Amino acid sequence: MEALSHLIKETLPNYLRSLPVPSSFTGIFKLSPSEWIQMTPIITLLALPTYYLARAYRSNEELRPSTKVNLNVNKQSSKIVDTADIEDIQKCDGKKAVYCRCWRSKKFPMCDGSHNQHNEVTGDNVGPLIVKA
Ligand code: FES
Repeated sequence: MEALSHLIKETLPNYLRSLPVPSSFTGIFKLSPSEWIQMTPIITLLALPTYYLARAYRSNEELRPSTKVNLNVNKQSSKIVDTADIEDIQKCDGKKAVYCRCWRSKKFPMCDGSHNQHNEVTGDNVGPLIVKA
């Protein structure tokens, strides 16, 4: 504990006091190469967290669009819920109803075959839910 106390109370303040920090912005351009070398540890210490924060923020931004399943259907709703009665299935063709699971159908929640193009473009393998009566 004494070593840590010495580091915080004496070594670190002495190191910071010895740094050739310019008193104005233009003073940066007047630093000699040896003064830049002297400043390297503190610049690195300040730059690394900034770099990692910026990198984390950027990767979050890049991930956001690809994490969404629904790109177009009823985007103003906070949640999309559809229900179907057995009579709806009988109205389709009397034998089955085909429901979209890819979220690309123009007739959502019914499948219009758009999953075929989606699968071709993305290499995905999604398809409809077929409910038989
Ligand atoms: S259009 Fe979406 S599953 Fe067919």
